[in-house]
Amino acid sequence: MNHNPVMLSEVLATLSPQNEETYIDATFGAGGYTGAILDKTACTVVGCDRDPEAKERAEDFKKKYKDRFLFVAGRFGELASLVPEKTYDGIVFDLGVSSPQIDNPERGFSFKADGPLDMRMEKRGLSAADVVNTFEAKEIARILWVYGEERRSRAIAKAIVEKRPFHTTGQLAELVRSIVGFERKGFDPATRTFQALRLYVNDELGQLERGLEASEKLLKGGGRLVVVSFHSLEDRIVKMFLKKRSGGLPHASRHLPDAPRQNPLFEMKDRKALLPTEEEIKVNPRARSAKLRWAIRTEGEA
Ligand SMILES: C[S@@+](CC[C@H](N)C(=O)[O-])C[C@H]1O[C@@H](n2cnc3c(N)ncnc32)[C@H](O)[C@@H]1O
Repeated sequence: MNHNPVMLSEVLATLSPQNEETYIDATFGAGGYTGAILDKTACTVVGCDRDPEAKERAEDFKKKYKDRFLFVAGRFGELASLVPEKTYDGIVFDLGVSSPQIDNPERGFSFKADGPLDMRMEKRGLSAADVVNTFEAKEIARILWVYGEERRSRAIAKAIVEKRPFHTTGQLAELVRSIVGFERKGFDPATRTFQALRLYVNDELGQLERGLEASEKLLKGGGRLVVVSFHSLEDRIVKMFLKKRSGGLPHASRHLPDAPRQNPLFEMKDRKALLPTEEEIKVNPRARSAKLRWAIRTEGEA
């Protein structure tokens, strides 16, 4: 159940950790990035994760790295109020779920193994079962469409409401497969529905927007923001955020000339997303859809 960190060498190259500096790993997970950053230089890392199991794993890191490592439990959307008050040299986000989460059927993230229909990273609050068993068909369809880009959202939602209650991931995956049908080899028709429920239950896109805004305030001039995302909805948010903040978006009014933003808060060295190598995808299929975007904080006031 080890987590194989995605695009680790690219993360280290762009974050560029230096001695004496302090970094935030906003998605500690199994600590793959944190460990690599701490092993690379004599720096300090503040790790954050909303999953109580990640908090337990962080204990070993505290023993090993002592005062070079600190863990804060919570959501990165509230990063500014979780981490010690100061400015940081770099912040990295590795979005989505970790292998320990997806590989444990009890967490209910996976349609590959049967388990309770849960999907809550924090193990509290609204679960995926609550959504499918109590929401109106119209709202379920909206969630599947907005967060899963599922074209058969209405048909699936109608069938869910007719056949509920659902208690396990297996039950739900079977229903979705029976409606969508197998479209292409190697792609499970339940993928989009499961993604949609997971994003909704954990408010992942809202968290991402707030996490990026928090980073803007927490980074010092010259500090680096590195974000690894896994699907187009996340990547779009990161791309638009960096474009806007680096002055790359045209002026809002069509009556005014396209002027770069007066006070860009980030500078982008790579306009295009970095992608994993073929070799990495071969050994770690989870890396297949990864995209890394990064930028350097300017001295501009947030
Ligand atoms: C892809 S994993 C990170 C893996 C990590 N880079 C490693 O190498 O082990 C994503 C982690 O982020 C956490 N996470 C997702 N959304 C979060 C949020 N809004 N706030 C805090 N943690 C979050 C998840 O619980 C999960 O442990």
